[in-house]
Amino acid sequence: DGSLRDLPGAQGFRIGTAVDPNRLNNEADYRNTTIEQFNSITAENVMKWETIQPSRGQFNWSGADQVVNFAQANDQIVYGHTMIWHSQLPSWVRDGGMSATQLRTVMQEHIAALGGRYRGEIYAWDVVNEAFNEDGTFRDSVFYRTLGESYIADALRWADQADPNARLYINDYNVEGINAKSDGLYNLARRLLQQGVPLDGIGMQAHLIGGQVPSTMQQNIQRFADLGLEVTITELDIRVPTPASNASIQQQGNDYRAVMNACLNVSACTGVTVWGVTDRYSWVPDTFPGQGAALPIDENYNAKPAYWAMYEAL
Ligand code: XIL
Repeated sequence: DGSLRDLPGAQGFRIGTAVDPNRLNNEADYRNTTIEQFNSITAENVMKWETIQPSRGQFNWSGADQVVNFAQANDQIVYGHTMIWHSQLPSWVRDGGMSATQLRTVMQEHIAALGGRYRGEIYAWDVVNEAFNEDGTFRDSVFYRTLGESYIADALRWADQADPNARLYINDYNVEGINAKSDGLYNLARRLLQQGVPLDGIGMQAHLIGGQVPSTMQQNIQRFADLGLEVTITELDIRVPTPASNASIQQQGNDYRAVMNACLNVSACTGVTVWGVTDRYSWVPDTFPGQGAALPIDENYNAKPAYWAMYEAL
């Protein structure tokens, strides 16, 4: 097999994957594939709030440090995921019944600690993750319920203080095509930029379904680029019914090609990260029963048509 990161099109472009530090430590195929194929890594879980600060003031950096050290040892950049998200939150934040003032303090402390620990070492942070409902209104998280929309601008400002050179992103799913949700995100981004809030980029997760890559994806990336923002495809996987048929795996190759081209055709789209190294450990089968085989590399570390589609695109 080849190496995605060595291809001409991967120079100055981030081609990434999401990783678990325990698997990097314990499984040679997983570790070697991560090193050989990718020039960017995202922590699949270990930089999330429940891991980093499981109780107030108690920080657990071991997994996150391993990911950052691994990346530096292998000449990879780190994409930071994530500071403020309604999910994988410890219960002391999720249902702590905090006042607005208390919650703001806790958010600022968390962002300062996480951003500060890796200051200067992170390419970009998903400062706010999954803030929207499908209809483009704001999700009813503890943050929105307690603080309203202002929590987003505040989080970006605190992140900028903590890690001034990192690009600061808002990240979400089902915002790849032009639809009500991406309209909500677009309007928020425009408002934030008008107000001088430090927002640098939009992350499109791209947890997609085989045969259903939105036809407006490139146009949608372009409209965010036209605001002056960078765009990254942050969590790409394309799920198919399992056991996967040959036809669905071929179609998936075409889908990966379409996503790569939608990004590569817009100069502000500077990276594509796939959400896992191998189908063996993908989150998809656990989350979407009956679906899986969503990544470019299969359970036995063999390249699929999706891999070769990425290869040819780069
Ligand atoms: C997922 C991980 O892949 C799983 O291991 C974990 O159990 C749940 O979270 N959107 C995100 C990611 O922003 O953090 C999620 O990752 C997938 C959906």
